[in-house]
Amino acid sequence: MAAILIADDDTITRNLLELNLQDEGYEVIPVANGEEALALLQEFHPDLIIADVMMPIVDGYALCKACKNDPALHQIPIILYSSSYTRDQEQQLGYDFGADRYLLKPIDPEALLTTIAEIFEAPASSSGEPTELSVDEEMQRLKTYNEVLFDKLSTKMEELEQQVERLRHSEEVLKSTQAQLIQNEKMATLGQLSAGIAHEINTPLAFMASNTNTLKRYTRDFVDLFHAVQQALQTEEPLADVEAIKGLIKKRKLEFAAEDVLELIDETLDGTERLKSIVLNLKSFCRQDQQEKTYTDLNALIKSTINIAHCELKYKATVTYDLKDIPEFRCFPQQIGQVFLNLVLNASQAMEEPGTITIRSWSDDGTIHIEFSDTGSGMPDEVREKIFDPFFTTKPVGLGTGLGLPISADIIRRHNGTIEVSSTVGEGTQFLITLPEDA
Ligand SMILES: Nc1ncnc2c1ncn2[C@@H]1O[C@H](COP(=O)(O)OP(=O)(O)O)[C@@H](O)[C@H]1O
Ligand SMILES: [Mg+2]
Repeated sequence: MAAILIADDDTITRNLLELNLQDEGYEVIPVANGEEALALLQEFHPDLIIADVMMPIVDGYALCKACKNDPALHQIPIILYSSSYTRDQEQQLGYDFGADRYLLKPIDPEALLTTIAEIFEAPASSSGEPTELSVDEEMQRLKTYNEVLFDKLSTKMEELEQQVERLRHSEEVLKSTQAQLIQNEKMATLGQLSAGIAHEINTPLAFMASNTNTLKRYTRDFVDLFHAVQQALQTEEPLADVEAIKGLIKKRKLEFAAEDVLELIDETLDGTERLKSIVLNLKSFCRQDQQEKTYTDLNALIKSTINIAHCELKYKATVTYDLKDIPEFRCFPQQIGQVFLNLVLNASQAMEEPGTITIRSWSDDGTIHIEFSDTGSGMPDEVREKIFDPFFTTKPVGLGTGLGLPISADIIRRHNGTIEVSSTVGEGTQFLITLPEDA
């Protein structure tokens, strides 16, 4: 079996060549560059050398020259091949250095096999003794050698630059796709909450409307009273009208109205505050994060996020907090808020009957810990193992996207943190997030 040495720094080309030649029954010895090839040739003489031209340390030309100048090796035929053909001289240079064939990539496997067969059938024809060169010829050859290598290097540099540019572009595309995915999932969560949020907005709106109607009636009564008083003051004998005024006060229940009016106004103002905070929470939840991370009070973020889900939660779970002082965390707050919301919604959706969600936060040894534990259904192992897989959901279509946890895990990972889960069927589930204080 003929043995063929392959020298190529490109692993893929080398492996493909190796497989092709092995299929044909050749023994193949692959190496990654000319230097390795020369080291190996000290101990072992293959029947053929196939070498790439552009290789680090010792290139194909130099390998060829070294072999052809070595009496022990000069009989071994050499096929050089080159990827980026830059100028006619490069092929001639290969032959000048003693190559038997000079091929261009991509190499057609059939053509290569034919070439190899040809070489084996007509051995040593061109691999004669090295010819002595004059100094001038030697200089000329060296000059061409330098020019060819320089050209090839420039071409390679250009290729590399293009490759870097392509990579940069794909990275940008990836980033924006990721941002889009996060935003989509956020909107899906919001979709789930929209009925609750509508209710949340409707309740204050309803009592504000009713209060405003009562206030209108009271105001009309007080205006009437004002007119009666004004009229009395304009008559000769104002005291004569006092009875009429008293009657008005009694008839319109103005004593009660005088007490009630401020209460109604306070309640209405309270309602506007509630609406304001709902809108604010929603706005901050929906907004895409800024480019820059900001220092964030995570305890406040927990509370404002849970507020958004208030209506969804209030019939299913009591939320209790045990939030210790933790340092401000540099993060994308909307993203972290999204994680919190996913966790509480999952917890409430896991409750078959009303239960408790406990949110704890603390920090130690430079790490912030945030734990969400619930008294929901818990998960069997085969579910727990899959919950971070995209699109894994146990919920009916329309309720579950299966993206909440994988996206949450991704967000936490990109903040250099971890998220872990433990769960017992019938008892409940805990999610523990850890974040480095100086992320
Ligand atoms: N707190 C929890 N208790 C029980 N099961 C949970 C809990 N959180 C997540 N899961 C399980 O993990 C699955 C995936 O969750 P998630 O990625 O948020 O997607 P979705 O909520 O859309 O199903 C859920 O369908 C559910 O089976
Ligand atoms: Mg979910």
